[in-house]
Amino acid sequence: MIEIKDLSKVYISKGEEVKALDHVSLHIENGEFIVIRGASGSGKTTLLLMIGAMLKPSSGKLLFDEQDIYNLSATERNQFRASKVGFVFQMFHLLPYLTLLENVNVMSLGQKNAEAEKMLVDLGLGDRMHHKPNALSAGEKQRAAVARALINHPKIILADEPTGNLDPENAEEVLKSFVQFHKNGGTVIVVTHGKEADKYADRIISLKNGKIVI
Ligand SMILES: Nc1ncnc2c1ncn2[C@@H]1O[C@H](COP(=O)(O)OP(=O)(O)OP(=O)(O)O)[C@@H](O)[C@H]1O
Ligand SMILES: [Mg+2]
Repeated sequence: MIEIKDLSKVYISKGEEVKALDHVSLHIENGEFIVIRGASGSGKTTLLLMIGAMLKPSSGKLLFDEQDIYNLSATERNQFRASKVGFVFQMFHLLPYLTLLENVNVMSLGQKNAEAEKMLVDLGLGDRMHHKPNALSAGEKQRAAVARALINHPKIILADEPTGNLDPENAEEVLKSFVQFHKNGGTVIVVTHGKEADKYADRIISLKNGKIVI
């Protein structure tokens, strides 16, 4: 499903080259639950953004369902991302002026309001969906972000430190929503420093200085 071939990313920062990813090759099957770990600066976010069609590699290829996503036009790539990928970030990135329900709806590609409501109810936010993010706890915000990621029925969830700002109980709730998505056939990639997701992982991949280490 995802074929990563010799992928590299070099950032230029203050005139200096930073090799964030260094010839990474990786095959990810449909329906895998993958944990990516590695020290700060090892290239985890860079890899995740590339898989999510958000960051062009310096060299190498990334095939998603046999499509070379960085060879698509920008419009095609946007469509691909909107329909197939759900993102969850450490800092939630909800829109502060919208309620949780509006945050989910604003990302929706024609899904009905009732579906967004059901999704929020299923994530335990039935009595919170008309509140704005700043009136909510970190766990509630992240569950809303999960609903937003799921609203378009993506094939894959990409989560970058999704439990980094959560207490253990809320962290488990968020991971359980990923487990449910995975049980229904979805692919999950979670970048995390913690160990909580390990028990759900089919595979744990470690990065060091931009390379995969065994
Ligand atoms: N936009 C950028 N410009 C320049 N250098 C960058 C940029 N983004 C990341 N880097 C560098 O690339 C390397 C990999 O960064 P990346 O964010 O992928 O690491 P990470 O493993 O996600 O780290 P963390 O655990 O701290 O989030 C780091 O050395 C980082 O400083
Ligand atoms: Mg990161």
